[in-house]
Amino acid sequence: MMGPALVGIGVGPGDPSLITVKALSELRGADRVFGPTMAVDAVGRAESIVRQAAPDVVVERLVFAIIEDAVARRAAHDQAADRVAECLATGERVAFVTLGDPNVYSTFHHLADRVLERRPGTPVTTVPGICAFQDLAARSGTVLVDGVERLHLVSAVAGPQAIDVPLADPEAAVVVYKGGRHLPALVERLRAAGRLDGAVVGELIGLPGERVGSLALAASGPAAYLSSLVVPPRREARDESTGAEAGEP
Ligand SMILES: C[S@@+](CC[C@H](N)C(=O)[O-])C[C@H]1O[C@@H](n2cnc3c(N)ncnc32)[C@H](O)[C@@H]1O
Repeated sequence: MMGPALVGIGVGPGDPSLITVKALSELRGADRVFGPTMAVDAVGRAESIVRQAAPDVVVERLVFAIIEDAVARRAAHDQAADRVAECLATGERVAFVTLGDPNVYSTFHHLADRVLERRPGTPVTTVPGICAFQDLAARSGTVLVDGVERLHLVSAVAGPQAIDVPLADPEAAVVVYKGGRHLPALVERLRAAGRLDGAVVGELIGLPGERVGSLALAASGPAAYLSSLVVPPRREARDESTGAEAGEP
């Protein structure tokens, strides 16, 4: 596509080999690549993945510190949008990298909204990335959903009660994001609901210090912000297609 455009690129959860071919091609085709960071002198997670997967690509940092004050947060987003709009004004194709997928709990659409206020009509697209919960399911050998089972993805940033409604559905898998600080309370709720069986936690998946394991054996304290839980549906011990006990030939 010719002319200025903004593209949000998912770079996966951490393992640089999980970045897609399309993401790499978009990164190399962009005139400028931005990445979110907590401070201008700190390499953000997404930038670090790009550095490993495509060392030839230069990432310019945009500061998106986690600020409680909504006014200050808005000011930081505005500053980032000003910088992106400045580059678009010179005709650049601008990429913004984000952890996982750009359409799943990502900063990208907040940034895109602010950019569109400044430059209405700018083409905005996204390149999907592998989400942390997909990598966690793969690493732990968990079948997320099958047949008519359902999948809930919830954010526990406001507290562990976020899982109560999805847990009421026994045929649903529940994926919990942003619940690291509430890990002990989440484990207690899952135990009370009889859903600890097969539940797994992944902390810093694909990143230095990674921990992946059974939730029943998880440490008793809070985990990192970059932690995800996968709770599989409650499954009968029978294979519905053959009527045999699961695990039997
Ligand atoms: C702001 S959301 C970003 C989600 C991301 N866009 C995605 O598609 O996975 C942050 C949450 O994603 C999850 N997450 C992202 N990367 C992770 C990783 N490497 N390990 C564990 N959890 C991760 C955590 O639950 C974290 O609290």
